[in-house]
Amino acid sequence: MTLQRVGLLTGGGDCSGLNAVIRAITRAAIIQCGAKVIGIEGGFEGLITGQTQELTVRSTKDILTLGGTILGTTNKGNPFEYREIDTDGSIKITDFSNKALKTFKDLKLDCLFVIGGEGTLEIGYKFYQKGIPVIGIPKTIDNDLEKTDYTFGFQTAVQVACDAMDRLQTTGKSHHRVMILEVMGRNAGWIALEAGIAGGAHIILIPEIEYKIGNVIKKIQFRKKGGSPFSIIMVAEGAKQKGGTTIRAQEAESRLQGVEKLGGIGFYLAQQIEKKIDLEVRTTVLGHIQRGGSPNSFDRVLGTRLGSFAVDAAVQGKFGTMTALKTPDIVLVNLKDLAGKVRSVSVDSQLIACAESIGINMGRAAM
Ligand code: F6P
Repeated sequence: MTLQRVGLLTGGGDCSGLNAVIRAITRAAIIQCGAKVIGIEGGFEGLITGQTQELTVRSTKDILTLGGTILGTTNKGNPFEYREIDTDGSIKITDFSNKALKTFKDLKLDCLFVIGGEGTLEIGYKFYQKGIPVIGIPKTIDNDLEKTDYTFGFQTAVQVACDAMDRLQTTGKSHHRVMILEVMGRNAGWIALEAGIAGGAHIILIPEIEYKIGNVIKKIQFRKKGGSPFSIIMVAEGAKQKGGTTIRAQEAESRLQGVEKLGGIGFYLAQQIEKKIDLEVRTTVLGHIQRGGSPNSFDRVLGTRLGSFAVDAAVQGKFGTMTALKTPDIVLVNLKDLAGKVRSVSVDSQLIACAESIGINMGRAAM
């Protein structure tokens, strides 16, 4: 089909590489189709408010290396269940999806490119079912989306976490301390696992494997007895103790978002370890540093490929799909196959077997 006017939005938490995708879609839609490109601001919220900006080759020319998203984003603006805090402090939920649909029609768009993670793509699929021709592009530092080998943003986050590990290694060794690094990953431990292996962690704790504190302690003691009185622990925010629950930091904002805000497992772990071991323990929470800043070359290339392929898919009228990496190719998968699914690390995976084979403790065995 001929594309005359296309819309795009970025939804959910940001990550490095979003602007690379925005640039690729804009350039491909203009260069290949001569289309007008309308950026919807603030994620799906922009479809409620009608706030947009035209994107051109010129306006996107310097954004390839830029972190964040020039369109803005939110992980609170689901038009199907829009949350607001009422004057009495209660949460008011309104369905603005018809309003969003009207905005899409008023803008006279031929299609909508939805750049986001699992939550955003699920909303995108709901709009597809409501009649909007949607194509999704997979984003998240967590790398927890089904049907794609990698999401863009992940590799950059791993590099940031790995760099932090390198720094903790030297100070931990100098002071004979246990250094804990808490990274993101609410449901899946991909960042913790890959950055932990890359950064030489001695212990890696991920949401998929409930850890036994006794095993963590034994590993630290074993290292101390062997002449290494320091240990580096990588922990994902969603990790939990056997039989325990995830550690949460509740805030008004997370009520608006509709999901619980995680954080604090690093400090909790430190308390558990300090009680049992004669070594000082320090915790670093890497937080949103993993999400900000310039994308690495992998994420720039992946973002560009996913964006350019999405325009190609729109020309062919293949809506209700998402562009995905199936190494070495970019392919299309159905949005309906993603709904409600999270790709976690398989506890029987080669990656975990590899980590354990070289002596990394994953919290499930003593050594
Ligand atoms: O989904 C990506 C993610 O980075 C999660 O790992 C993390 O729990 C969440 O975003 C934090 O989001 P927020 O920006 O709302 O603090």
